[in-house]
Amino acid sequence: MTEPVKSKRITVTVDGTEYTRTVEARTLLVRFIREELDHTGTHFGCDTGHCGSCSVLVDGKVVKSCMMLAIQADQAQITTVQGLAFQDGSLDPIQQAFSDHHAVQCGFCTPGMLMATEYLLSQNPHPTEEEIRRGIKGNLCRCTGYVNIVRAIQALGAQEEVIS
Ligand code: FES
Ligand code: FES
Repeated sequence: MTEPVKSKRITVTVDGTEYTRTVEARTLLVRFIREELDHTGTHFGCDTGHCGSCSVLVDGKVVKSCMMLAIQADQAQITTVQGLAFQDGSLDPIQQAFSDHHAVQCGFCTPGMLMATEYLLSQNPHPTEEEIRRGIKGNLCRCTGYVNIVRAIQALGAQEEVIS
């Protein structure tokens, strides 16, 4: 019988920087991002795929990083919330819209909401309210600030040029 893989050397690009690390096979991607790479902007809430606070983009698709093993991300391009802002530190359009529309309360859900929005608008730059609500339905806001979150995304969708 083949021995199960206990650890693996992986290479991932996170927010534009390439990292090579040896990780235990059981390490969740969210733990790898936060604890090994110190990208703590990605939050860790439920650990069961329900809250969405751990959402990141893996090769352009939004993924709940507590539902993926780090070894499954080998060779992937990952974008976390820390990769959204511009080099000079200014907010990207999604972050700016959330700020302008007071779509942040305690902020716990915000990294995941921003990444879900990034993915939604990459697929559908001008979503309807219903499409927005469907697009963020995997992300829970315990402060229940959905109205302003939806308004922020509607404002982005109303712009001519949306997201890169
Ligand atoms: S921590 Fe991943 S979905 Fe809640
Ligand atoms: S702003 Fe508090 S959980 Fe959403």
